Amino acid sequence: MTTLLEPEHCEHVTDPLDDISQQTGDSPYQVFSDWINMAVASFSGDEDAYQKPLDRYRADGRDEETVRKFATLHANALGGLVLAMEETQEDVLGGVYEHYGLTSEHFAQYFTPGALSRTMAHMELPDADSLREATPEDPLVIGDISGCGSGRLIVDSARRLRDIAPETPAVYLGYDKDPLCAKMAVLNFVLNDMTGYVLLGDALKLDARRVWFISTSQLVRGDHPVRELDSRERDRVLSRFFGVPLADDLDDDTDAGAAQEETDTKPEPEVDPEPTPEEPTPAPNLDVALDPNETSQAGFDEFA
Ligand SMILES: C[S@@+](CC[C@H](N)C(=O)[O-])C[C@H]1O[C@@H](n2cnc3c(N)ncnc32)[C@H](O)[C@@H]1O
Repeated sequence: MTTLLEPEHCEHVTDPLDDISQQTGDSPYQVFSDWINMAVASFSGDEDAYQKPLDRYRADGRDEETVRKFATLHANALGGLVLAMEETQEDVLGGVYEHYGLTSEHFAQYFTPGALSRTMAHMELPDADSLREATPEDPLVIGDISGCGSGRLIVDSARRLRDIAPETPAVYLGYDKDPLCAKMAVLNFVLNDMTGYVLLGDALKLDARRVWFISTSQLVRGDHPVRELDSRERDRVLSRFFGVPLADDLDDDTDAGAAQEETDTKPEPEVDPEPTPEEPTPAPNLDVALDPNETSQAGFDEFA
């Protein structure tokens, strides 16, 4: 089952992407993947990742003007996405992915339809007492952690929380083993002003090959809203939210340390065709302290 978006909303995004596909001969899957990668790269300030598709266009013999034109079409699709999201208050991004899924076997996932997702958000938020108990130091944690897809369920929960208790400090978690899905969730977090983490990896094994921290409050400090965590930070996220023991803790216990060594031998990923990224350079300041006067900046001081 798919979220059936009105064609006029989908088209804000698909028209520029289809244009690229027609002019380059790239498949819709390739163009969509490029677009998602470039959008995440823009929000995280990763110039190399942003240039990758453009370098491919150049390598195919296109001149700079044509490459610039394709870059503009990618940007237009992002602008179209924001517009369509504002008009519909729906997960247009997931809808566009599903739209292409109708014609390509590469788009392997289908997401909870919008109406159902909103109903679940209504049903699943905790009671008023729990909401009141949340503090910036101990925020409400809302996640879709067994495969978040485009992050639709989490976005609808965030919207619902803002409707009923906008002051509640909350942190959002997404987890998916499909890189394209994890990155769509990252974009949805940014575009819906949600603070939290998206983990890329197999949730059943609690591995996290990549983790992004998302908070638009980082913009205030002049940083990008998305930051990829290094391996130590990834471990801390797994420890804090999923109870995975930190290596330091295991060092204190020889048996447990030996067990960890065994499970650290990761099998080849089934789905993710991406190379393991180079370790990102740690940022000097990781703290995201919640400003109680600014509820849209819900976050917490994870790395203090
Ligand atoms: C049917 S979709 C549902 C997405 C979302 N929860 C929703 O309701 O819209 C299932 C998602 O789970 C992801 N997935 C499946 N097995 C997984 C695993 N072991 N670890 C992480 N993600 C997984 C898939 O990549 C896919 O995005």
